[in-house]
Amino acid sequence: MDGVFFAVLLFLVHPAAAVSTNEPRNGACRDNREEFGFALIGHDYKSFHADNFGRCFFKCSIDEICQSATFLWNSKECKMKNETKRSRPADFVENPAATYMENSFRAKKGSKALVPGTSCKDILESGDAQGDGEYWIDPTASGDPFRVYCDMVTDGGGWLLITQYIEGNPSVLVQLNSYREILPKYSINEHYLLRSGFNQLKQDMGFSQIRFYCFKKTSGRVVHIMTSNDSMGNDVVKFFTTSNNLPQACGSFWRLPDDNSSLAVNCHQWGSPKKNKWGHKTQGLTSDRLYRKPMVWSNTRFFRFTLGNGLCCDDNGLSENVGSHGDKWQIFVR
Ligand SMILES: *[C@@H]1O[C@H](CO)[C@@H](O)[C@H](O)[C@H]1NC(C)=O
Ligand SMILES: *[C@@H]1O[C@H](CO)[C@@H](O)[C@H](O)[C@H]1NC(C)=O
Ligand SMILES: *[C@@H]1O[C@H](CO)[C@@H](O)[C@H](O)[C@H]1NC(C)=O
Repeated sequence: MDGVFFAVLLFLVHPAAAVSTNEPRNGACRDNREEFGFALIGHDYKSFHADNFGRCFFKCSIDEICQSATFLWNSKECKMKNETKRSRPADFVENPAATYMENSFRAKKGSKALVPGTSCKDILESGDAQGDGEYWIDPTASGDPFRVYCDMVTDGGGWLLITQYIEGNPSVLVQLNSYREILPKYSINEHYLLRSGFNQLKQDMGFSQIRFYCFKKTSGRVVHIMTSNDSMGNDVVKFFTTSNNLPQACGSFWRLPDDNSSLAVNCHQWGSPKKNKWGHKTQGLTSDRLYRKPMVWSNTRFFRFTLGNGLCCDDNGLSENVGSHGDKWQIFVR
């Protein structure tokens, strides 16, 4: 069969196949199998006329942007795609006059500026995540991607780091309205994405959950919660993006396994005045509400990491307010 012959030929002549000897070759060959009678709809970044499907898939295999190709037998069109059947399962359809093949030499999504994902979650769902670390994303397909840090492990992964504070890291206070600027600077303390930028990220990339983490040695406890992926959690997301209604605390978040905070088990004490609410009636309504006082148990426990107001992680920020090297605050979305 032409296709089988082609796959063997590709294996023999492909430059990556010739150079890299440590990779299991049978894995590459298995991915590289053509699927007759199937097509991926849309996601074409390049189309051309090809005499046969072998020619089409060879062109795809030497272009690292090409994630997969669909060859249309009647028109002899070769459609090179920047997605695969795994990353866009809803667009993978039966088509008796088409052949689909994935490029096993492709650059993995998110690994290079050439092949950005739309979000950390998109990269995870494409099956291309390589653990926690830096990836390229371009939420609006602007052609101008940027690097971000993704947590691909916690609770299944797909989390984009919005900001973090690590005691001991260099600090430069910058308050930003553009998510493009803050994300690459995640390792420098005090780059705060303000509410307008956070809302823009919501519109451009989309996310349904916010996750809050902190650990401070002197308090000795971990706050680790994520907003629930339902209407109550959604009210919390709205509060941090568009709404000024203080959302209800209890029932709006889930605890992660390492959470041992008293804040998380005392949601009915949150708010100022205490009314089972996120935020704070005055300070919690400012444009830096995400960092300033998202969780308040008045005079008792706070989650807060704006430097001028102290660093609190399940403590009151007064007598216990001593930071130690490595204390960490983080906020993620997915
Ligand atoms: C993938 O190709 C489509 C064209 O079908 C384009 O609109 C989109 O921006 C590309 N995606 C990326 C991440 O480059
Ligand atoms: C909470 O968890 C942290 C990290 O595992 C641990 O160091 C600390 O001792 C725990 N605190 C309590 C009160 O269990
Ligand atoms: C959140 O819920 C939406 C809609 O129910 C779903 O599509 C999405 O996958 C969920 N996200 C997570 C992380 O479970």
